[in-house]
Amino acid sequence: MIRPLDAFGYRSWARPESVASNRLPIAATAQSGRPRVDLDGPWQFVLRDRPEDVTTDDLAGDASSWSTIDLPLNWTVAGFDRPHYTNVQMPFRGPLPTVPHDNPTGVHRRRLEIPSDWAGDRVVLHVGAAESVLYVHIDGVPVGMGKDSRLPHEFDVTEHVRPGHSCDIALTVVRWSDATYLEDQDHWHHGGISRSVWLEARPAVHLEDVGVVADRDPDTGLGTLDVSVRVAAPGYLPRGWRARLVAPSITPEPVEAEVFGEHPTKTWVTVARVDGRSARLHVDAGVVDAWSAETPVLHDVAVELVDDAGTIRDQMSLRIGFRRVEVRGHELLVNGRAVLVKGVNRHEHDERRGKAVTQESMLQDVLLMKRHNINTVRTSHYPNDEHWYELCDEYGLYVIDEANLESHAYLRSATKDPRWAPAILERITRMAHRDRNHPSVLVWSLGNESGASPVLDAAATWLRSWDRTRPVQYESGAYEQELAARVDGLPIRPADTWRERRVDSDIAAPMYPSIDELVHWATTETPTGPLIMCEYAHAMGNSCGSLDDYWRVIETYPGLQGGCIWDWVDQGLVKETDDGREYWAFGGDFGDEPNDREFCINGLVFPDRTPHPALLEYKKVVQPIAIEDVDVARGRLRVTAKTDFVDLSWLRPVWELAVDGEIVEEGSLDPLSIGPGDSTTVVLPFAPPSVADGQQAHVTIRFLTTDDLPWVAAGHEVAWEQFLATSAPSSAHRSVTSNRPGAVTDQVTDRDGAQVGEVLAEWPAVSLWRAPTDNDRFATPPPAAKWDGWNLRAPDLDGLGVQVDTTETEVDGGLLFDHVIAIPPELDDLPRVGVRLALVAGYEETEWLGNGPHENYRDRRASAAFGRWTSAVDDWPVMYVHPQATGNRTGVRWLRLTGERVDDVMIELLEPDAAEVTVSHFTDDDLHEAAHTVDLVPRAETYVWLDVAHRGVGSGAVGPDTLAPYRVGRGTYRLSYVVRVGASRA
Ligand code: GAL
Ligand code: MG
Repeated sequence: MIRPLDAFGYRSWARPESVASNRLPIAATAQSGRPRVDLDGPWQFVLRDRPEDVTTDDLAGDASSWSTIDLPLNWTVAGFDRPHYTNVQMPFRGPLPTVPHDNPTGVHRRRLEIPSDWAGDRVVLHVGAAESVLYVHIDGVPVGMGKDSRLPHEFDVTEHVRPGHSCDIALTVVRWSDATYLEDQDHWHHGGISRSVWLEARPAVHLEDVGVVADRDPDTGLGTLDVSVRVAAPGYLPRGWRARLVAPSITPEPVEAEVFGEHPTKTWVTVARVDGRSARLHVDAGVVDAWSAETPVLHDVAVELVDDAGTIRDQMSLRIGFRRVEVRGHELLVNGRAVLVKGVNRHEHDERRGKAVTQESMLQDVLLMKRHNINTVRTSHYPNDEHWYELCDEYGLYVIDEANLESHAYLRSATKDPRWAPAILERITRMAHRDRNHPSVLVWSLGNESGASPVLDAAATWLRSWDRTRPVQYESGAYEQELAARVDGLPIRPADTWRERRVDSDIAAPMYPSIDELVHWATTETPTGPLIMCEYAHAMGNSCGSLDDYWRVIETYPGLQGGCIWDWVDQGLVKETDDGREYWAFGGDFGDEPNDREFCINGLVFPDRTPHPALLEYKKVVQPIAIEDVDVARGRLRVTAKTDFVDLSWLRPVWELAVDGEIVEEGSLDPLSIGPGDSTTVVLPFAPPSVADGQQAHVTIRFLTTDDLPWVAAGHEVAWEQFLATSAPSSAHRSVTSNRPGAVTDQVTDRDGAQVGEVLAEWPAVSLWRAPTDNDRFATPPPAAKWDGWNLRAPDLDGLGVQVDTTETEVDGGLLFDHVIAIPPELDDLPRVGVRLALVAGYEETEWLGNGPHENYRDRRASAAFGRWTSAVDDWPVMYVHPQATGNRTGVRWLRLTGERVDDVMIELLEPDAAEVTVSHFTDDDLHEAAHTVDLVPRAETYVWLDVAHRGVGSGAVGPDTLAPYRVGRGTYRLSYVVRVGASRA
């Protein structure tokens, strides 16, 4: 039976070779002054169970009884159907190209009047993005169809509308299709329209597309501008028309060129002179300022279409930037410099709006990235909203622009099947066409996790030949080689595949390589091309250990050029509990089956864009200034500009000298005008500090923006470093501990009379466990499985061979606890070695001397500063979307806990002189048992963990587990501390 949607071919949503029908060729993003009817806002909406259920009546006529939906918005976050999260697996059963029988299909309807002054114009309908197949009808008449959920569809609807009259537009979106197999990215699948919709009137003869190449020779600074203009007209092109370039900041006089088109009689004219209906313009711009992420210099450019009488018939404007990108040897050069990619992967995600991100949210992301020293974004894994690139041009972010292609579930087969070739090619070429004018776009990426394929080789070749100004990158071809070897049991190491010269990539773009492998690649043979990790440092939950270790090797070895952290934002969606409390939901929370649970929660920022501590760490590790100790006790430091194009004169250095966290002297210096790569020595004019027994003096220098910038206000900290200036050994501490009586195994010697007993709800007890982080659970092999095997949660210490000697001694107003904990060799990898105690209800505030203020671990503490910090107990844990161990602070010398109706408690570390400390109203069991933050109920007691050693966080869920130096294993650990009540710090 033929149904209305079959007008575009029988079941075209389930046919890979059918990619579009009547869709206009895509054009580069540009602004035009053409009249538009904005179609964002309320549409009538109905959801059918299957595309076959859409009737003729659905497509035109009365829809007044339907619901409404405010476009752009996925219906899956507007109360219809449900979002569906999967990672590698498809959301439905194959084999490809099977499309499920139950296949939600939304019809969006809107009635509108076409302005009467549009008569004679071409009327074009623009639908910014539709997941996953779009069908367009006007007054029930089929207009067009298109696939690719992340690029716009445009249709010439002139023949379907009458100016001055109303019409009924129906946008029907089928949720699941053959295209879903090429959109098997690890993120939420939604349904519906997620970007803007409008109608536009274009003059009958109009500018169809404008392409710009703005090159700049890095040696001479000379810029050239080449503009190609494509003109559309019904029938033959009129003669005598010109294209005019108006760009006052580049050329004082406009530049014009003739528009060539087909000749009605003389075909040879066409053959000889015409490469399509086009005009070409060239400008030698002289010496121009370069565009870069550090110097986003843009020029306004307008292209006018002028008729034979000199009248301007159409106009388009865009902002361009002069720059050159090239791969030379093993370097990716931007304006001649091997810039380091300090990148992130970003999915389009809004905690309430799904894929329909607003312009405010895009700006917020750009500003946050800039403020955290990030310079690159990979549009994982599909072309983004047009506005995103405009922001990257304007504020200065490099873009790795990725096509909407991922066949992960069929990684080794789908893209090799020629049935998918048209779809694959058009996804890549349409992206490049749309985005080619953006200076921010440095690299084209073919897609993600789709294996190797002749079609991908063809696409890479197409890109190189069509756009000679940008390299191509792709990860999965090389990865498939590694995978195939592994499956066949052949020896291969990842670096072997990165070294291979590949048609599908000019850049080695591996995922999650180990640091050792990077060093191996960079040192054993001359690298064949630049290496930029397309993904690294999997930021799932409490993660991102060893960022500083990665960056040490990136900065050491030529050919390693950085990478993009996976990923930017936790993809939690706001959901409500039955009693109305909001929380962030993940896979499975909407009844979406099958699903991959919390694997979409891998961000550097929470769904509401609050930074995770890992983002603060990244900011520090990639800061554009290095500061080294020359002779810090005398205030001498060496400052190096790690910028690529600008000197440091936009930053004011300020410094402070603090003794045990108390500032004793501070000052500021004049901005330094040292250029990229240059160093200078600065002298901070402080008097040598005097420190008492056990005290430490630290010098901290910070670089703050001097003026308001487009992306941040004056006074913003861009870079900093801290140095230990002097310390005095603590003789007092030693004498307390050395007087201790002999150890008594696991016994309490004297609780009576000690006030300490009144504030302790739980006496200190050895603790070896933490609520496994996502990395602890998903690393290969998962350490958490081992910990379960040892039953660390409620351990039988004797049975495990752990020996504990604990003594308690009354000392001036407090109790001295001394624990000696001997860990046998079998327990080779523990979460922690320390004790847990609990204070009675009422302790809500803390102060400590140690590293902070934010959560830090052995392998993620570059961003933590030593100081005297305060925090509410509630703010110690980071409320990760998926609860897990959290809240550690390293290097804590003392901790004070206070409350309004309780006596202060002071805990002072003696041996070692600093511990790793956690404070919380949640126990590890609480964190472990909770699936979501709303499952956590704070306890009245305040728990305190004092660890001699605490395992780093690593990045093991996808990527390297915590590195050996940050693990905790066998050995004898000594932990001594004094607990005092009612005492404030002397
Ligand atoms: C990569 C993939 C990403 C994401 C990540 C795991 O393999 O490209 O899309 O799935 O792993 O979170
Ligand atoms: Mg994937």
